[in-house]
Amino acid sequence: MAPVAPVTAPRLRANQALHAPALAGRTDWYLVTQLRNYGAGLRGADPADSSGQQMRAMAATLPDEAAVNDVVAYIDSLR
Ligand code: HEM
Repeated sequence: MAPVAPVTAPRLRANQALHAPALAGRTDWYLVTQLRNYGAGLRGADPADSSGQQMRAMAATLPDEAAVNDVVAYIDSLR
């Protein structure tokens, strides 16, 4: 699960180089909702939003609902 590394390696803190926000303060239901939104193209679809498009590509690597839940369960285990 290589794509998780940049986000979780610094213990859920923001990664400024990637413009990736911190996930530490986010609830599990919020994380699941946002991963679904990226996956469904409800978030990160605007061509002008390069950060959102980057994350949309990451979310696309999660093939189904079970994968989303697994990633969020893993994030919960790091808290
Ligand atoms: C499986 C690993 C990952 C998970 C679970 C994850 C999760 C998330 C979530 C939930 C958000 C929304 C945060 C919010 O609304 O406050 C987000 C945003 C973002 N993530 Fe990730 N992420 C992952 C991997 C990555 C990677 C590898 C990158 C960079 C290559 C990345 C770049 C970003 C960026 C740039 C945003 C902000 C996008 C925006 O402004 O809409 N993420 N991520």
